[in-house]
Order: sequence, then structure tokens, then C-alpha cells
Amino acid sequence: MDLDGIRAEALAAIEAAGDDEALQALRVKYLGRKSDLSAALRELGNLDAKARAEAGARANRVKKAIEEALEARGAALLSQRAGALATREWLDLSLPAEAPRKGHLHPITLVEADLEHLFRGMGYRVVEGPWVEDEFHNFDALNIPASHPSRDDWDTFWLSDGNLLRTHTSPVQIRAMRRFGAPLRAIFPGRVFRNEAVDATHEACFTQIEGLVIDRDIVPGHLFHSIRAILSAILGEEVEARFRPSFFPFTEPSFECDIRRGGRWMELCGMGMVHPKVLEAGGIDPLEWTGFAFGMGIDRLTLMRYGIDDIRWFHGADLRFLEQFGCA
Ligand code: DAH
Repeated sequence: MDLDGIRAEALAAIEAAGDDEALQALRVKYLGRKSDLSAALRELGNLDAKARAEAGARANRVKKAIEEALEARGAALLSQRAGALATREWLDLSLPAEAPRKGHLHPITLVEADLEHLFRGMGYRVVEGPWVEDEFHNFDALNIPASHPSRDDWDTFWLSDGNLLRTHTSPVQIRAMRRFGAPLRAIFPGRVFRNEAVDATHEACFTQIEGLVIDRDIVPGHLFHSIRAILSAILGEEVEARFRPSFFPFTEPSFECDIRRGGRWMELCGMGMVHPKVLEAGGIDPLEWTGFAFGMGIDRLTLMRYGIDDIRWFHGADLRFLEQFGCA
């Protein structure tokens, strides 16, 4: 076949090719070793020099034209495919994304953080103790006798190794006295555990904050003043508080503090002057040092601060309740 014929046939076939596979077959057919063009090039050897140069140049132009046609058709097929894909699958980048949900602190954590801040301002250090306690720190060192009801199986979560989940934060008093000595001003916030049936005002796990001040010549007036100041700051108003005589094995004398909310007196915390035996258990000389201690439930304080009616809201998973405490 003559070169013009080859060229015309090849370009028409390439233009009609429907996919890459067809194009590849045409490349072999028109440019491959067995193609008419290759045969024509091989025959150039038989021509004389002048004719060979001329025919060679023509054959190369045909070859180049076929290569260019293959390339152009390939690019056209590719953009056809991309166009089809773009109408089938597309991404709307202007669609507003769902904003990530931002977390916030739990109401009990908020009150705990405020308490820590207030006490630090009054010179207290913040100390945490272990949740798993031994009998010595939780009871004996606090002058709680073996016959005391809180040591009963029904009131305390005992572990199989003889230890227990602490029933109050008071054992940290002993740990702090032994570690830091006197004088001392510290609070001990944290979780405590009791074998309770859960109802609107009782949880088996709740949060307490314990306070301890050891110094010379401490009197109950120091205690009453500190408690009033803290409660007023936490509840955001001057609170009406009363202090009643009470009993705790680890304080002598002991008091209970009630505050007036909406015309009713509510019991809020226990306190007293640290018992000499407790000072001794903490390695502090009761003839030289005096002190006061108190323990309050942060959960109950949180209920009062926000006017919440049921302690079970705190550990329920109802986000509608919890989301009220996020800052906007
Ligand atoms: N530990 C007591 C309780 O959990 C609370 C308490 C009362 C702590 C009097 C004190 C205190 O430090 O002096 O019920």
C-alpha cells in the first residue's frame, strides 16, 4: 500500500476507535513490526540514495502523523471518561459540615474546681488519697472502734484482700499529717463509696471534700468562719448557717452545719476539733498542736447551687441534663 493510503486509513481508524484497547490494537497494526509502514521502511534499502532520502522523510512524516493521532485520540477518550464520571459522581464542597461537638465539665467537677480555687486562696494545699484504703486509715486511725456501724459489711464495700473502697475522705487526714507534719492546711477532694441503695439523695459513689487545719491555738471560731466564707462563695450569696453539736469519733467537740435554703434547714457537713487520738495517729503531738477538720458532700452542694432535685441526674447519661452546664 502506498504511504498516503496507509496514512488515510490509519487516521480514519484511529478517529473511530472507541476505547484504549482499540487504540492499542491500532498502534500495533499501523506502527508495529508487521505493519505496512514498517515494511515500506524496510524496502527503502533497495532505493538509490536520493530516492531513499525522499521516501524516508515521507515515511517518517506518516509515522509521526499516526503517532500524533493516537495520542490525540487517547487524550480525547480520557477527557470523555472524566466528563462522564463528573456528571455521575460529584462532591458539593459548599455543603456546611457538621461541627464537632465540644465537651464541657460536669457540674460536680465545676463545683469541685471552684472549691479548690477558693481554698487555695485561703492558703490550703490540695492533696488526693487512694480510693482503695486499708482498715487502719479508714477506721482505726480515725478513732472509729471495731463496733462502729460504718464498719459493718452492709455499709462498706470490702475487697477480698481485706482492704476496702474508702467510705469517706477522712483517711487522707492521716496520710497528709504523716507526710507533711504540722502546721498544715489542706483539702482532700475525691470519690467515696458506700453500700447504699440509690435514691434521690443517696448514691453508692459520691464526691466529698475534706478539710484539715493544724496549727497552734485553733478554736471552733476559725472553723465556723471558714465554712461560712466558703459556702457563701460557692452558693453565690451570704448563706444563713447554723452549727449544731454532733458526734464524730475523730473530732471532739463535733458539729454539724446546716444552711437555710428556701425556708428549710438542710444538713450540709460534719466538722469539729481534731481528736487528740487522731493527731497522734498522724504523728502530731496533741499537747503542742490543735486543729479543725470538716467533710462535706460536693454532690449535695452542687444540688443546692443549681437547684437540682435528684442526685441520680449526675450519673445518668441524659445529655439534655448535662448540656445545661456547658458554656456557650
Ligand atoms: N467523714 C464524715 C462522713 O463521711 C464527714 C466528716 C465529719 C468529716 C466530721 C470530718 C469531720 O472531717 O470533722 O460522714
